[in-house]
Amino acid sequence: MFDLTNKRALVTGSTQGIGYAIAACLASQGADVIVHGSSSYEKCANAAARISAAGAEGKLGIAVADLSKPDGAEKLYEAVGDVDILVLNASIQYRKKWNEITPEEMEIQFQTNFKSSLRLIQLCEPHMEKNGWGRIVTVGSVQQYKPHRDMAVYASSKAAQMNLVTNLAKQLAPLGITINNLSPGVIATPRNEAALSDPDYNKQVMAGIPAGFAGTAEDCAGAALLLCSDEGRYITGIDLTVDGGMKL
Ligand SMILES: NC(=O)c1ccc[n+]([C@@H]2O[C@H](COP(=O)([O-])OP(=O)(O)OC[C@H]3O[C@@H](n4cnc5c(N)ncnc54)[C@H](OP(=O)(O)O)[C@@H]3O)[C@@H](O)[C@H]2O)c1
Repeated sequence: MFDLTNKRALVTGSTQGIGYAIAACLASQGADVIVHGSSSYEKCANAAARISAAGAEGKLGIAVADLSKPDGAEKLYEAVGDVDILVLNASIQYRKKWNEITPEEMEIQFQTNFKSSLRLIQLCEPHMEKNGWGRIVTVGSVQQYKPHRDMAVYASSKAAQMNLVTNLAKQLAPLGITINNLSPGVIATPRNEAALSDPDYNKQVMAGIPAGFAGTAEDCAGAALLLCSDEGRYITGIDLTVDGGMKL
């Protein structure tokens, strides 16, 4: 089950957190995985080395590109080439009240979280269509359903991405390509380490999670693996929440 041998995967934002866990999981099932980040080649190389040391079956590649730039997706595709599995995990999130967020901050979040996702899908889809096999997973957020008062624009960008998934799923299904969204709830990653280390805020957040605890990046990786596999071939157009019931 879940044999990804001879599949090539790109996981955006896989130097740490959820993207790293997904990349490691796909590699452990035999996929050749490109580890991607925006900050430095060294950070990507370190992540790839850790995945390799953990016993990856597939080959590992590295790519650096800033998806907050209008030409970021093109540069990434130029560096990586065609893939069979595309996981769009990288995002930018500003914690700021809706009436204080600047036009530039709006643009950066929509560019990274929505426009670059669409552009990468446009660039990667022809190869998948030619082979009659492709898997696309976007990473959304439980905030699509339970908005956080300080992240209105971030939540909107994730909701826009989900709408794209719904639309494309119908068009890509006859071509052997599935596209799904995975929406994490509260997952302990470097992104929210500082916020969750405040005991009062932590208590308030945990009270909103029926399971009573924050998930780990690995909780998201298994769900992503299903959506990227042959076993997931009949699943398309869904939003798979991995949130300990927080959406309810
Ligand atoms: N953690 C949660 O509780 C949670 C909840 C709901 C949804 N999510 C979603 O899950 C995904 C992963 O979250 P996370 O918590 O694992 O995030 P994270 O720890 O902040 O990691 C973000 C990743 O994205 C990359 N990245 C950041 N800015 C980028 C840019 N401009 N261009 C390209 N790559 C960029 C980072 O690479 P560099 O460091 O090299 O820049 C890093 O690999 C995101 O889409 C997030 O919105 C997370």
